Amino acid sequence: MENIRVHDKQFKIYISQADIQKRVAEVAAAIKEDYKGLNPLFIGILNGSFIFAADLFRNLTIPAEISFIKLASYKGTSSTGNVVTAIGMEEDLHGRHVILLEDIIDTGKTLHAFLPEILHRQPASIKIATFLTKPQALQYPVTADYSCFNIDNKFVIGYGLDYDKLGRNLPALYILDEDQ
Ligand code: IMP
Ligand code: MG
Repeated sequence: MENIRVHDKQFKIYISQADIQKRVAEVAAAIKEDYKGLNPLFIGILNGSFIFAADLFRNLTIPAEISFIKLASYKGTSSTGNVVTAIGMEEDLHGRHVILLEDIIDTGKTLHAFLPEILHRQPASIKIATFLTKPQALQYPVTADYSCFNIDNKFVIGYGLDYDKLGRNLPALYILDEDQ
């Protein structure tokens, strides 16, 4: 599928399923090297990260743990800026090597608002792994330690990312087609 329609908008293919799988495996290999013997604790930020989290975690062949939390800061096609913790963290982070998993760092507002809460729990270390980064959209001082792809400052869907709830199940990444 090269072009798809979701709700009122037209999207075109941007990163293929094969390219995504290859890159996620590369990032998993890098994390594996960096975290050998550390039993890292991944924390996936729902909903968007669930596909990336599953694929990344499946590619890690070292002992590792994973848990999920839910924050919400987004409605429609632009950031609303409301960051809410919906499902809290039950894990004890004290002394743990934590890796936060995000679908995308857009403005950086979500992670910037959430990082103090993690730090407060005194993990041994904290890093960020994100599927996507939009460098031109960044407004807060947040840097990913692992990022699969840097993308243009346009709205994307697929591989966990949605447009008003739809599109998360697309295996490739699609970008808003403004010519349509
Ligand atoms: P932030 O602006 O970095 O705080 O991004 C907040 C959240 O907005 C991300 O975790 C995504 O769930 C969502 N988001 C940002 N850009 C896009 C996009 O292009 N498509 C779908 N969701 C997005
Ligand atoms: Mg998200």
